[in-house]
Amino acid sequence: TFIQPPQVEWASGALAKGPLLRKSTRIQDLIEVFADEPARQQLAGEHVVYDVEMLATSSAEGELYTGVTHLYPGHVGGEYFMTRGHFHARREQGEVYFGLRGKGLLLLQNEHGQARLENVFAGSIHIIPGFTAHRLINTGNEVLSALAVWPAIAGHDYAALAKGFTLRVFEENQQILVREVQNG
Ligand code: 6PG
Ligand code: NI
Repeated sequence: TFIQPPQVEWASGALAKGPLLRKSTRIQDLIEVFADEPARQQLAGEHVVYDVEMLATSSAEGELYTGVTHLYPGHVGGEYFMTRGHFHARREQGEVYFGLRGKGLLLLQNEHGQARLENVFAGSIHIIPGFTAHRLINTGNEVLSALAVWPAIAGHDYAALAKGFTLRVFEENQQILVREVQNG
């Protein structure tokens, strides 16, 4: 008999057949993440913006974590739903994202505040180098799911981006509008 490995269900992007950890992030958790904070406060706080499912694997140095982010469609004051975004606490540690379903953007930003956007779609592969902050943005009408693999020691530094990234992505007249933000 062979070992049954964990599985990602392609259609839904869901992880299955392994011990999982799950975390939901709601509108009420994303204080000052979107440009229009009053608009965020007027939305239902309990509404889930994204879920992360993670395989419960070793956290030892040298090991890798695997997780899927499911980012739901929606807007806050015209700005697309997105993840909080972060640098890794261990800045030099990279990560790989794979698009599973839906349509969106991966916002990448280096320590000098230089940002770029990559298209995310089923089958897309994103090499996130070290020293690079990352955030998923759902520009579609369906769930955007992406699988990620990253070093267990990487950790998260959310505070470094408390002022936000230097690009913000909005929907205006059914089009994607990218705005540069002063001061980051
Ligand atoms: C990580 C991954 C990824 C990420 C989620 C949620 O380093 O753990 O980049 O699992 O954490 O997509 O995004 P936020 O951590 O920015 O909320
Ligand atoms: Ni990360």
